[in-house]
Amino acid sequence: MQQRVYLDNAATTPMLPEVLEAMLPYMQDKFGNPSSIYSYGREAKMAIENARKFVAKSFNAKPGEIFFTGSGTESTNMALYGAVINLGVKHIISSKIEHHATLHTIEYLQKQYNLQVSYVPINKQGHLQLDALNELLVNTKVPTLVTLMYANNEIGNLLDIAKVGKMCKQYNAYFHTDAVQAVGHYTIDVQALGIDMMSSTGHKFHGPKGTGVLYLNENIKINPLIWGGAQERNMRAGTENVYGIVGYAKALEIALNNLEKDTAYIRNLKSYCIEQLNKNIELISYTGDVNNGLYTILNAAFANTAAASMLIYNLDIAGICVSGGSACSSGANNISHVIYELRGTEDVIPIRISFSKLSTEQDIDKALEVIIKTVNKNK
Ligand SMILES: Cc1ncc(COP(=O)(O)O)c(C=O)c1O
Repeated sequence: MQQRVYLDNAATTPMLPEVLEAMLPYMQDKFGNPSSIYSYGREAKMAIENARKFVAKSFNAKPGEIFFTGSGTESTNMALYGAVINLGVKHIISSKIEHHATLHTIEYLQKQYNLQVSYVPINKQGHLQLDALNELLVNTKVPTLVTLMYANNEIGNLLDIAKVGKMCKQYNAYFHTDAVQAVGHYTIDVQALGIDMMSSTGHKFHGPKGTGVLYLNENIKINPLIWGGAQERNMRAGTENVYGIVGYAKALEIALNNLEKDTAYIRNLKSYCIEQLNKNIELISYTGDVNNGLYTILNAAFANTAAASMLIYNLDIAGICVSGGSACSSGANNISHVIYELRGTEDVIPIRISFSKLSTEQDIDKALEVIIKTVNKNK
């Protein structure tokens, strides 16, 4: 059987065997409901609280500030709804290159609650113009939420979080960050960075899918999105995903314990990939700040020729998984909103290659072989 090559780690990552091993007891013998007061329940409850303590410590937060949710998307919804409905936010400042979890939630809230929404302009490299953000904050006259992502999932650009956190404090705005692509890839200190609310998800750092976390500063009081039982200290009703929570914490622990080594390894893979692409393809460009961005993501673009338009198809036939530049969730063939913001309707074929510590140079060579052959065909 053809061996598949997986280079789409910004979409999701394979779960590590050690993570599964940590989860399995809670799918089998330790299956109790954490709300039950007898021993089965207590051991499940203990597993959740130990996971919470570990996650809190990793973010330099308090256990009471960590809420387990069902996804990064849910965490962001909870933060944004809470800001508007409970904190009285009337103005949201964001950017056009956020994930749809943020953009579509803002659009809905704007319609329902008649909010003012501002988007921080971006430059050609995809960096937010922080002077413009400052200007927006100086002029805002109503309670304001800034929601900006830590690392962009398509182009890998990183935000100067500390600077934004400081600006938000200065002007009394709430600050939420979608850190889905950053947690597990960087150490994050929510206090030092001035973050009020932060979304993350386990499946982007070799944990299980369906496991989100919302960090919520203890001074921020919002209501739950999901009502019912008293789980998550009344903030998210429904019997907890015990093994998912255990898996999220285990994956984070492994990621943070090996961060320096894994980061260096993945950085090298990315540099190698860039070097080979530049050497072998004449008309190539990159979207975003390729040299200073997230080390796991590379977004390349090729001239739109008949041959190059077959790229994703050819890679798929060869068993190589990378992402195209189309709207990611629908699979539709229209250009993604992020690429559009940076390149407009420029006629290029974009691909996103994204690496993990399980990627190898051989994986990249196999992908490069197809890319180079396809793009250079009939040249
Ligand atoms: C930046 C970013 N935000 C949010 C999400 C959504 O996370 P989840 O799949 O856990 O809902 C993703 C996942 O693709 C992402 O990359």
